[in-house]
Amino acid sequence: MHRIVFLGPPGAGKGTQAARLARELGIPHLSTGDLLRAAVAARTPLGLEADRFMRAGELVPDELVLRILGDRLGQPDARAGFLLDGFPRNLSQAETLDRTTKLDVAVSFDLPDRELVRRLSDRRVCPTCQTVYNLSSNPPKVAGRCDRDGTELVQRPDDRPEAVANRLKVYAAQTAPLLDYYRRHGLLRPVDADGTLDAVAARVRSAVG
Ligand code: AP5
Repeated sequence: MHRIVFLGPPGAGKGTQAARLARELGIPHLSTGDLLRAAVAARTPLGLEADRFMRAGELVPDELVLRILGDRLGQPDARAGFLLDGFPRNLSQAETLDRTTKLDVAVSFDLPDRELVRRLSDRRVCPTCQTVYNLSSNPPKVAGRCDRDGTELVQRPDDRPEAVANRLKVYAAQTAPLLDYYRRHGLLRPVDADGTLDAVAARVRSAVG
């Protein structure tokens, strides 16, 4: 059984590596960011409420995030393990998670701010299939178009410079203290997130054990 948490600053490569590792281990990749973006795109009441926090690079209130994640964690495919990407994001979410389930490992991604900002400003996503590209490290075959379905790629609203600066501040203030929390619980496995996708994937794989 694998019950894994990925922690790390915005743009560190958590989502990219989570998709890959979850596929390899045959467990669901549960990204609260993806769940929230799907709710925003579907214009559900929860999505409409979350949208303004996300655009500003603020955390969405715990109550909304727990509602959306609780539904997903309760589905049958998550019973045999899961990879949580982007949750928990503050101490109160970590404590709530501890009351719900036991974790096996918390992998933290380390990358200097300069590289985080570079990765985020070059990120483009397909609004149809959600494939993530990067203008410098992982560009689409045809400029500006998704390789899979040809849709025009877009920039996430929170990847604009003002929101990125705030997300880095929010991470330092609210999420970084979780590194200590998981270290004290003996679950923390730090990974150097600099390097090629394959190099980082190999480090993550060995951290998970
Ligand atoms: P979320 O979607 O979780 O955003 P994040 O944590 O800020 O992380 P990102 O998705 O920006 O980055 P990532 O680390 O996944 O990097 P990626 O793999 O894409 O959350 C968004 C918002 O939702 C939050 O701000 C908040 O408002 C809300 N939210 C979500 N969860 C919440 C919670 N629990 N509580 C409250 N609010 C919550 O990679 C980045 C780029 O780099 C890509 O272009 C990629 O192609 C490229 N790249 C990846 N790896 C490499 C590499 N090794 N070398 C070069 N380029 C690379």
